[in-house]
Amino acid sequence: MRTQVGIVGAGPAGLLLSHLLHLEGIESVVLESRGRVAVETTLRAGVLEQGTVDLLNATGLGERMQREGAVHHGIELRFEGRGHRVDLSELTRGKAITLYAQHEVLKDLIAARLSAGGTIAFEAQDVSLHRPDENTPSIHFVRGDAAQVLDCDFIAGCDGFHGVSRLSIPPSRRTEYTRTYPFGWFGILAEAPPSSAELIYTHHERGFALVSTRSPSIQRLYFQCDPHDNVDSWPEERIWTEFRARLATHDGWAPREGPIVQKNIVAMRSFVCEPMRYERLFLAGDAAHIVPPTGAKGLNLAVADVRLLSRALVAFYREGRRDLLDGYSETALRRVWRAEHFSWWMTSMLHRFPGNDPFQERLQLAELRDVTISRPKATTLAENYVGLPLE
Ligand code: FAD
Ligand code: PHB
Repeated sequence: MRTQVGIVGAGPAGLLLSHLLHLEGIESVVLESRGRVAVETTLRAGVLEQGTVDLLNATGLGERMQREGAVHHGIELRFEGRGHRVDLSELTRGKAITLYAQHEVLKDLIAARLSAGGTIAFEAQDVSLHRPDENTPSIHFVRGDAAQVLDCDFIAGCDGFHGVSRLSIPPSRRTEYTRTYPFGWFGILAEAPPSSAELIYTHHERGFALVSTRSPSIQRLYFQCDPHDNVDSWPEERIWTEFRARLATHDGWAPREGPIVQKNIVAMRSFVCEPMRYERLFLAGDAAHIVPPTGAKGLNLAVADVRLLSRALVAFYREGRRDLLDGYSETALRRVWRAEHFSWWMTSMLHRFPGNDPFQERLQLAELRDVTISRPKATTLAENYVGLPLE
C-alpha cells in the first residue's frame, strides 16, 4: 500500500486530519488499533470551543452537531455555597461553547471519510514506524493474519498518549515535561434531566465537582477522587451523597438524580513533548501533549494541531513549500503551552490538594473571588475557555 500521508490513530486528530487533507486533494490512510464500535462508543470530552465548531461547520461536518449539540453562553463557578456566572459570550464578543460528545464528532468524521471513499484500517495491530528520518518512511502493521506495509511521504502520529509514534522519536531528539496531580476525576453518566442550563465548576472542601450534560435525558457529572480508587467502591447512593454535599448551595440547590448508567475514573496529568516533529514524523493531539480536563482543552488542542498540520502539508504539496512544515512544531507548541497553563490554572484553583494547609485554601478562595469580581480576570478565563483564535 502507498499513500501520501500515513496517519496512526483514528481519534479526533487523525480522522480530522484525514478529512482536511481529503478536502485539499491529498490522500491519506488511517491505521487504528481498536475496532470501529469501540472508537464510536468510548466516552471522553464534551466541550467544543467556538473555533472547533466553526471548523467542523466550514468543512461539512456540522449538520448533526447543529441539531443535537447545545450552545452554552456561560458557565458557573460555585464556591462557598454560592454560584457566580461567567458570561462567556459577553466577555468574548459573542463567542460560545457547544456541548457535543467527542464520540459523536468521531461518528460524523468516520461517516464522512468512508462516504468519500477514504480508508480507515480498524483493528490494525503491531503498528510500527520505519525510517521517519528518510524520504521513504513506512508504517508496518498486522491486520487479520496478514502483515502489511504502508509506504508514505509523511507520517502523522495521532495515536494518543499511549501510542507508538512519540516513542519512535529517538530519546535524544525529544524532551518531555510532565506533571501528575494527586487526584483523578470520577465521571458518571446518569439518566436524568439537566440540573442546570450551564456547566457548574465547583470548589468545595470535600473536593472539586463538575456538572455537565450530554442531552436532555443524559447527564455527565464528575467529582474529584483518589486516582487509585475503584468504581466498584462507589454504589449509586454513595455517589449521589457526594455530589449533594459538594454541590449544595445556601439556597438549597440539589442535582437532579437518576439511574447511573456508566462510571469511570480519569487520571489527571499535564504533559508536553518537544518538539512535535522528527524529520518526516509529525505528532498531533494527545500523542504530543496532555492537559487535565478542567479547562476542557484536550480535544480542542488536537483540532488546532491538525488544522495547522494540514495547512503545512497543503503548502508542501501545492507549492513545494517546506517553511510551514518546518514551523509546525514551534507554532503548535505556542498554543499548547497556553492551554497547558490555562488547564493547570483551572485545576489548581478548583481542586482540593491533599495536604493543603488552610493558608493555601484561602489563597484558592481569594483567586476564585477575584475571577468573579475582576472583569480582566473573568475575561482571561472566558477567552481561554471559548478558545483562543486558531491562527
Ligand atoms: P485519542 O482520542 O487518544 O486518539 C488516539 C487513537 O489512536 C485512539 O483511537 C487509539 O485507539 C489509537 N491508537 C493508540 N495507539 C495506537 C497504535 N499503536 N496503533 C494504532 N492506533 C493506535 N478532554 C476534555 O477536554 N474533556 C474530558 O472530559 C476528557 N475526558 C477524557 C477521558 C479520558 C479517559 C481520556 C483518555 C481523555 C479525555 N479527554 C478529555 C481528553 C480528550 O479526549 C483527548 O485530548 C482527545 O481524545 C485527543 O484526541 P487525539 O486524537 O489526539 O487522541
Ligand atoms: C464533559 O462534559 O465531559 C466535560 C465538560 C467540561 C470539562 C471536562 C469535561 O471541563
